[in-house]
Amino acid sequence: MQPHLISPSLLSCDFARLATEVARVEDAGADWLHVDVMDGHFVPNLTIGPPVVEALAKVARRPLDVHLMITDPLKYAPHYAKAGAHVLTFHVEVAGSAAGCREVIRAFRGEGVRQVGIALNPDTPVERVLDVLDEVDLVLVMSVFPGFGGQKFMPEVLGKVRALRQRGFEHHIEMDGGLNAATLPRCAEAGTNVFVAGSAIFGASDMRSTIEGFRASAASARAGARA
Ligand code: DX5
Ligand code: ZN
Repeated sequence: MQPHLISPSLLSCDFARLATEVARVEDAGADWLHVDVMDGHFVPNLTIGPPVVEALAKVARRPLDVHLMITDPLKYAPHYAKAGAHVLTFHVEVAGSAAGCREVIRAFRGEGVRQVGIALNPDTPVERVLDVLDEVDLVLVMSVFPGFGGQKFMPEVLGKVRALRQRGFEHHIEMDGGLNAATLPRCAEAGTNVFVAGSAIFGASDMRSTIEGFRASAASARAGARA
């Protein structure tokens, strides 16, 4: 069984103080640091490029969990891998067929990426990733349409997490979008073990107790699901 990991999304931090924000969220108990890369094409927003990931990698003490919301992961994978991405996740919607996904996965591994992830938008069926499950370390089940922080959680995607666990997928399942104290236990109960949260963590008055609360509620939801 995979450990529960909290991966705060830096999208909600103060971009003018990146190093301070990274230290603050690490000191508060973050396991990974979620980095949202958007290209203004796959999603209607533009965010972080390789030079900023490289700068983050220099100050981070935790692994960088890089979520590529970009149309051309093959073109940019070398840049993000070199910049220091520990987990590098691409969207199945841009890779097309299973053969297309395999090409991206192999390219990422060829660039030395330690953990390769594949992400699904809320309206993408889980069947799209089944043929490549043996080749990835993580499946990211989006619980909002990607592009912006602070959106409302979509509970209808929880069935995809259950389906992946029922098929015997034992690696990381990550959920991203609208996670907070109310929604995170539902994700854990379904079988999620990596929890991305942006606004709920960076908007909290006490970041440490928020992360501790997430961890505790995930553990009790998992225990309840197994009982
Ligand atoms: C959405 C991003 C998320 C986002 C989550 O496109 O992929 O990582 O930052 O933010 P919250 O937790 O505020 O929904
Ligand atoms: Zn994300």
